[in-house]
Amino acid sequence: MEFIKVTPNHQEHVALIELNRPKELNALNLQLMGELRDALKQLDDDDSVRAIVLTGNERAFAAGADIKQMAGKTAIDMFNIDQFSTWDQIKKTKKPIIAAVSGFALGGGCELAMTCDMIIASETAQFGQPEIKIGVMPGAGGTQRLTKALGKAKAMEMVLTGKFISAEEAEKHGLVNRVVPVELYLEEALKLAAEIAKMSPVAVKLAKESVNRSFETGLDEGLYFERKNFYMCFASEDQKEGMNAFVEKRAPQFTGK
Ligand code: HXC
Repeated sequence: MEFIKVTPNHQEHVALIELNRPKELNALNLQLMGELRDALKQLDDDDSVRAIVLTGNERAFAAGADIKQMAGKTAIDMFNIDQFSTWDQIKKTKKPIIAAVSGFALGGGCELAMTCDMIIASETAQFGQPEIKIGVMPGAGGTQRLTKALGKAKAMEMVLTGKFISAEEAEKHGLVNRVVPVELYLEEALKLAAEIAKMSPVAVKLAKESVNRSFETGLDEGLYFERKNFYMCFASEDQKEGMNAFVEKRAPQFTGK
């Protein structure tokens, strides 16, 4: 991997992926996104991993898709490259992904953070969809996910003016889980991942899938989907272990079976 660094067992059951194009502020070129897709697939298939943290560096999570790589492309080139199939694959990751964001999370960088399941932000983080300033618009979910998180008025303003919002504002609007001092953002994300990694991996995946389903369906269908996944938990050994441990007043040992 040239543009990302993957540490499968950074902590017990927690993997860390670091975007690694620091000179270009982690601009997301096609190769980087391909590497990220492949890494996430491998980690999703690796039973020793239960949660994944995705980060950049202190200055930038990612400053967007690589403008230099896109500048000369035609619509047909873009259609044939079909870069969003990579993003569709990333969205299919079953295990939880926590974005640890510091500095710029712009354009595709903001969209990548929002594709993750949770965001821990450093107090220096800035979120924005500045594509409008370079004659385009968000293409990897910005108009949809930002609107769902912030509401129409705020999202519209960000998408139409390219204005950034601070970490504090992002927290106020529910875009991020919390904001911490810059020296703690990665540690905080890893801590959250470790907490989730103690739960039943089966239940975690089913619960993630159910929460995400709420973005796709109406309430009745969502409730029906949730119920099926709830019943599915009872096919796992982890359900027996979790409930027996409660009754026996001991800590559960979940195995993902
Ligand atoms: C390619 C980029 C880049 C990008 C920064 N760089 N962002 N290269 N694509 N998105 C490069 C710069 O060219 C420069 O390289 C180096 O990183 C450092 O950036 P500077 O501009 O010198 O830093 P600074 O002055 O601190 O400004 C930081 C910045 C600015 C505000 C983040 O770089 C910026 O506005 N970047 C573009 C943000 C953007 O428009 N993102 C949306 C992209 S479109 P050199 O070699 O010159 O030193 C998009 C579409 C998504 O994301 C849909 C599909 C996924």
